[in-house]
Amino acid sequence: MSEADTDSGSRAGREEVWIEKYRPQTLDEIVGQEDIVERLQSYVDRNDLSHFMFSGPAGIGKTTSATAIARELYGDDWRDNFLELNASDERGIDVVRDRIKNFARTSFGGYEYRIIFLDEADALTSDAQGALRRTMEQFSNNVRFILSCNYSSQIIDPIQSRCAVFRFAPLSDEAVAEEMRHIAGEEGIEFTDDGLDALVYAADGDMRKAINALQAASVTGDVVDEEAVYALTSTAKPEEIKEMVDQALAGDFTAARSTLDRLLTEEGIAGGDVIDQLHRSVWEFDLDDEAAVRLLDRIGETEYRITTGANERIQLEALLASVALDD
Ligand SMILES: Nc1ncnc2c1ncn2[C@@H]1O[C@H](COP(=O)(O)OP(=O)(O)O)[C@@H](O)[C@H]1O
Ligand SMILES: [Mg+2]
Repeated sequence: MSEADTDSGSRAGREEVWIEKYRPQTLDEIVGQEDIVERLQSYVDRNDLSHFMFSGPAGIGKTTSATAIARELYGDDWRDNFLELNASDERGIDVVRDRIKNFARTSFGGYEYRIIFLDEADALTSDAQGALRRTMEQFSNNVRFILSCNYSSQIIDPIQSRCAVFRFAPLSDEAVAEEMRHIAGEEGIEFTDDGLDALVYAADGDMRKAINALQAASVTGDVVDEEAVYALTSTAKPEEIKEMVDQALAGDFTAARSTLDRLLTEEGIAGGDVIDQLHRSVWEFDLDDEAAVRLLDRIGETEYRITTGANERIQLEALLASVALDD
C-alpha cells in the first residue's frame, strides 16, 4: 500500500483526516528536523533549488517538506507546479517517464522550473533508476526533482551524486509529544499523562502514526488513556514485553510462552511488532552487558527469519526458549 493510500485512510469518515488537517504548510511549521529545515529554507530563500533526495522512515516529514517548499516557491499556484508521483504505484518507469515529460513540457506560468516529487524512489529497479537519471538530465533546465526513499543506499550512485541528500531521522519523543499537545488543544481533546506517553511510545518517531492514533482514540469522546492507545495501535505495553522476557530469563518458558500467546492472540499484535518492541526495550531489562548482547543477537536472528517469511509464532517461541535455556 502506498503512503497516499494510508494518508487518505479507510477510517476517514465524515471528519477530516487529521494528518492532512495538521500537515505543516510552511517549512517553519515542521516539528523537529531543525537542521534539515534550515538547509531547505536557505535553498528556498535563494530561490535556487538543486535536485534533492529525502531519505528516512515513514511519517517524519519527507512529503510534507516537499509540499512546503512548493507552497513557499509558488504560493497559490503550487499545485500547478508540483507533480507528485509514486514510483511503486506507476506501473514501471515508462509511465513515470511519460508523466514527467508531459509535465516538464507544459507551460510554466512565469516560473523558471517546476518540481517533481517522486515518492518511494527506492522501489525502482536499478535499470529504471538509470532511465530516471537520464530523464533528470534531460529536463534539468526546467524541472527540479525531489526523490523520497526509505534507504538512500538503494539509490544508484549517479542519482545520489546529482542530489543534495537530506537524511530525515525519526522524530524525537519530545517532538511527537509537542505535536500531540498542539492537536489535542485545537481539537479540545484530553489525554492522561500515561495516554500521552503511550502515544509517543506507539508512534516510535512516526508522526503520522501518532496523529492517526490520537484521532482514532478521540472518536470515543472519552479522555484518551494508555489502554485506548495501546489497543488502537496494536501495541504491547512495554510492561508486557518486559514481563515476557523476565519470565524467559527466569527459566519459566511456559509462562513466557503464555504471555506471548496473549499478545499475539488476544491483543492481536503482529509478531514483527513484538520483535521491534523487544529490540527497543533490551536496554531497559536490567541485563548485564553479556546477556544483553546475547539477547540482541537472537533478536536479530529472529527478525531476519520473520522478514524472510518464517512463521512468526514459531520464531518468537524459539527465541523465548533459547533465552529460557540460558543459565
Ligand atoms: N516533522 C513533522 N512535523 C509536523 N508534522 C509532521 C512531521 N512529520 C510528519 N508529520 C505529520 O505526519 C503526516 C505525514 O507526514 P509525511 O511528511 O507525509 O511523512 P513521510 O516522511 O512519510 O513523507 C503529515 O501530514 C503531518 O501531519
Ligand atoms: Mg511521504
